[in-house]
Amino acid sequence: MHLYYAPASPFVRKVMVLLHEAGATDQVTLIPASGNPLDPGTMPLDRNPLGKIPALERDDGPALYDSRVICRYLDDRLGAGLYPAAPRLWEVLTLEATADGIADAAVLMRYEGFVRPEPFRSSDWMEGQWAKIDRALSTLEQRWLSHLNGPINMGQIALAAALGYLDFRHQSRPWRAGRPGLDDWASHFALRPSMMTTAPQG
Ligand code: BEZ
Repeated sequence: MHLYYAPASPFVRKVMVLLHEAGATDQVTLIPASGNPLDPGTMPLDRNPLGKIPALERDDGPALYDSRVICRYLDDRLGAGLYPAAPRLWEVLTLEATADGIADAAVLMRYEGFVRPEPFRSSDWMEGQWAKIDRALSTLEQRWLSHLNGPINMGQIALAAALGYLDFRHQSRPWRAGRPGLDDWASHFALRPSMMTTAPQG
């Protein structure tokens, strides 16, 4: 299999952590790719018409895209067990969607600050994205800590990738303040070898 890959992407990191946790990094060849809303870069649009990274070329069918689809496919193919059976599945998928929403808003903020030409940047729009992140983090702190402390699953991996991206690109926003449970969980999860070897770069 071939994975279109960008080392800073929290969505790529989800896939990479899954591969490390499953002991299957040797089954995927990484192909560096780039792209953003103003420049399709090198991501082949015939693999993902949305131009987004990651995309997975597989041996047994057309390319897959969207990290949630790729992670579900790899978990099934590798028997990684990162998605439990229902009814716990619904909580893991909701946690994964919440984490991906945090990462989405954080990446859009990065594009606004570094890709959109300076005269067109909107601080209101930027604060609107941060408000989503802030709300989601507070909900996780208030209601999700018991889920985070259960056996490893794809929701936890997605959240660790999203929080790692906040630390990487948005250091000026102290998301840990007033969230001791999330802070403690993220610090411990970050010590897993799968997390340490996939730290964002770029
Ligand atoms: C970044 O450089 O922050 C980035 C790169 C690719 C995808 C998402 C984010």
